[in-house]
Amino acid sequence: MADSNISNEHGVDEHCDPNNPRIVKYEDILAAARRIVGIVMRTPLLKSHMGEKYGMDLYYKAEFLQRVGSFNERGACNVLACLTDEQKKFGVITASTGNHALAMCYHAMRNNIPCCVVMPASASPIKMEKCRELSGNKVVIHGEDIAEAKQHALDLALEKKMVYINGYDHVNIIEGQGTIGIEIVEQLPDVDAILVPVGGGGLIAGIATAVKHLKPDTEIYIIVKEDWVMRGILHVIEEEKFVVEGAGATTIATIMAGLLPNLKGKKVVCVFSGGNMDPKVLSRCIERAMAIEGRLVKFRVTLEDKEGAFTEFCSLMSNIGVTIRDFVPQRTWVTSEIFYTEVKVIAETSGLNQAKELTDLVKKHYKEAYFHQLSEHARVTTERRGPCLAPNPVCMMK
Ligand SMILES: Cc1ncc(COP(=O)(O)O)c(C=O)c1O
Repeated sequence: MADSNISNEHGVDEHCDPNNPRIVKYEDILAAARRIVGIVMRTPLLKSHMGEKYGMDLYYKAEFLQRVGSFNERGACNVLACLTDEQKKFGVITASTGNHALAMCYHAMRNNIPCCVVMPASASPIKMEKCRELSGNKVVIHGEDIAEAKQHALDLALEKKMVYINGYDHVNIIEGQGTIGIEIVEQLPDVDAILVPVGGGGLIAGIATAVKHLKPDTEIYIIVKEDWVMRGILHVIEEEKFVVEGAGATTIATIMAGLLPNLKGKKVVCVFSGGNMDPKVLSRCIERAMAIEGRLVKFRVTLEDKEGAFTEFCSLMSNIGVTIRDFVPQRTWVTSEIFYTEVKVIAETSGLNQAKELTDLVKKHYKEAYFHQLSEHARVTTERRGPCLAPNPVCMMK
C-alpha cells in the first residue's frame, strides 16, 4: 500500500496497529525508487579489504555516505513525496533519537514542509543540535525514552493537525528503505546473503521485501553482542578507513565473531546503515574495543621505592615493545610496605599475545602485580533470522 494516511486519531499511530497490518509489496518499493531517484544518493557497493581474512567475497552498502549520514533519508524522502497538498501545508511530526529525525528535518526543509521533531532527553546532543539547524529550531525535547517522546508527538500531531511519521512502522518509510534492496541486487546480481541491522524493523522489512522478490534464495540475517560491535567499529576504521555507527557495525561484527561460518566462499553484503557517531561515544568504543582485544592492558604493580626502580620498570616494558600510556604512583592509601610504591599502569600492546607476554614478565619480576582481567572473547550469542520471508512489518517488530 503506497499512501500516506493521516495516522494520529486519539493519539494512536494507525501505521502501527497490529490489528490492521499494512502490506508493502515489491511494486511499492519500485515506485519509491522512482520517487527518490536523483534526490537520495544511490550509494556505492564497496568491496571490503576484510573479506579475504574471513574467507568470503565481502561488500559494504555505504549508506553512511548519505547527506545526513544514514539510510533513513530514503524513507523520509519517500514519505514526504507521498503527502497530499493539505498534509504538506500542516506539516509532519515525528519522534526519534536521531537518524530518522535528521532525515525528516533535512528532506522537509528541502521541500518547504513544516517539520517538528520530538526527541527524548537521552538523545545525542549533537543530533539534537543538527536537527535544530535543519528544522528551523522545531525540536521538542520530551520524555526519558522514545516511547514517551512518541506519545507526546502523537498528541501534538492531533493538536496541530500535523501528520505523525513513524520511523520504521510506516508503509512509505519501509518502501523507501526497501530501495536499498533493489540497488544491492542491481549492483551485485549474484549476492548470496545480506546482513542488515535491526532497530524497529523498517530497514530489514523493506530490504527483505525487495530482495525476496528479485532473488528469493538470498539470505538475510543478524544479532551480535555489544563487545563485538565495538570491535567492528574499530576494525572498520583501521582496515577500511571509514567510520560506521554501532548499528551498521553489527553486520561486520557478526562475521568477525565467527557466527556465520556457512557464509564462507559466498558473496555477502553488509549494510553499513549510518555513520553518525558522536565523537565521545566513538572514542569510548575504540578504547573499549582495544581493551577487549588486549591492546590496552590495565594493572597494578608494587615497585621498590628506590632510585632506578622506575627506570628498570620502563626498560622491562620497552624491551618487549610495550608502551606505557598512563602511570600513576600511589604511596599513601596502599597496603604495601612503607618503602614500596604501588603504581597503576595502563599499557599499550599489539594484542593478546603481547598482553600475555607482558603479564608473565611483570609477574615474574615483581612480587605483587594484579592484572585487570581480559574480556572473554567467546561471549557471543546469535539468533538466525533467515531466510527472511519479507514478514509483515507490524508483526515483525512487535
Ligand atoms: C544507523 C541505523 N542503522 C539501523 C537502524 C535500524 O533501522 P530500523 O529501525 O528500521 O530497524 C537504524 C534506525 O534508525 C539506524 O539509525
